[in-house]
Amino acid sequence: MSASQSTQDPVPIHTDVKSWIAYVGSSVQRYLPDAKTVEISFAHKTELAGRLFEDAYKEAKVAADEQKLDGFGHLNEVLRGLAKRSSTLFEAYAQSLHSVSALEEARVEFIGKKGELNLLTRYLGQIVPSGRTVVGPVFNDMKAAFTTAIDRRRSELELAALNVRLEAEREDLTLPPRFEPVGALHPVMQVFEELAAIFADMGFAVAEGPDIEDDFHNFTALNFPPGHPAREMHDTFFMKPAADGTRKLLRTHTSPIQVRAMVNSKPPIRVIAPGRVYRKDWDATHTPMFHQIEGLVVDETVHMGHLKSCLTDAFSRFFEVPTTESRFRPHFFPFTEPSAEMDIRCDRQSGKEGGGEIKVGEGNDWLEILGCGMVHPNVLRACGIDPEKYQGFAFGLGVDRLAMLKYGMNDLRPYFEADTEWIKHYGFKPWLLPTVTGGLS
Ligand code: DAH
Repeated sequence: MSASQSTQDPVPIHTDVKSWIAYVGSSVQRYLPDAKTVEISFAHKTELAGRLFEDAYKEAKVAADEQKLDGFGHLNEVLRGLAKRSSTLFEAYAQSLHSVSALEEARVEFIGKKGELNLLTRYLGQIVPSGRTVVGPVFNDMKAAFTTAIDRRRSELELAALNVRLEAEREDLTLPPRFEPVGALHPVMQVFEELAAIFADMGFAVAEGPDIEDDFHNFTALNFPPGHPAREMHDTFFMKPAADGTRKLLRTHTSPIQVRAMVNSKPPIRVIAPGRVYRKDWDATHTPMFHQIEGLVVDETVHMGHLKSCLTDAFSRFFEVPTTESRFRPHFFPFTEPSAEMDIRCDRQSGKEGGGEIKVGEGNDWLEILGCGMVHPNVLRACGIDPEKYQGFAFGLGVDRLAMLKYGMNDLRPYFEADTEWIKHYGFKPWLLPTVTGGLS
């Protein structure tokens, strides 16, 4: 038998609680001015109630004898003794009830509005002075004892019910686990994350722009004037012309995000801008959609030396080698002046075992990695920045090829074939996000 089960039968103890309260009630009536001296008795059904009652009387008699108390004095002691013992009786009664609804019924029966314990208070106003300071506290103590007993039992039953449920619903730890398939981060996304971590460490924020651009952001603001032959360098996807003749396009590079960054904020500016770009190309090394990351720094004293150290440092971190030697070859981009392409030293290891693999940071070969330059004054001007006061550098690179180089993939096409075997092999666990301090790859 568990501790929460009763040793009392609810029917006799319920009767005892009723008689106990009735006894207190009729005793209190003796304090009324017109009290009749009727003999009252307490007939108990449980051994517990009998013992408690007897103890209260014995104690009261001792006190009355010692202190030579009169009739009311003795009665006061009896009531105090009964009040003191009610908690034991009420606890035992509460223990005999085995449901929350039975407890609720008991609460209503005894301390509800018309409850027997509550009704005792109807005498309070008429009591003669000798009982006044005793009866109030006696009633309060009994009521409090009853409430406590019911509440405690209720929590006990609720806890027991919860335990039964927990027991029944317990997980079977011996069952073999059901594996949920977990996706993997595409190498392109991994490289975006790695570059974002590296450049964040240098104070760059990440900027974004829409894939569907307009002519101004993709070309004009970047110093490709209308009709300029450089526009033909990009095989652009154009949308149908709008009523006014203008045509939206799929951005051909991430450089329009530079424009948006400069138009929308004031120098100093330090952003990188990863994104998808689109060109009409389709062969073994070109797909119509591919990925670039753009970088832009605008401030008052920015020069080519900053550009060089920033990029050299970034790529030795990216390839996780202590230093990378770099080479800047003059080039042409409409939006930078001067413009350059950056190569880094590498060893193509051609002819050796594992041929075709590229080792960065050593060897006698050069790997073209990005385009860059000092932002053209026309671009600054088009974006509302004074070229007399500010200068900037910018760079842009293809992320797909960079991922191929770092992670040893030699074919671009499977990148976009949604082949789960390929992504399982080349992908990255999504929770292993790269950080500069925690490790990139
Ligand atoms: N937008 C160029 C492209 O798509 C790449 C580029 C070159 C971006 C030089 C730049 C830059 O910001 O300065 O080929």
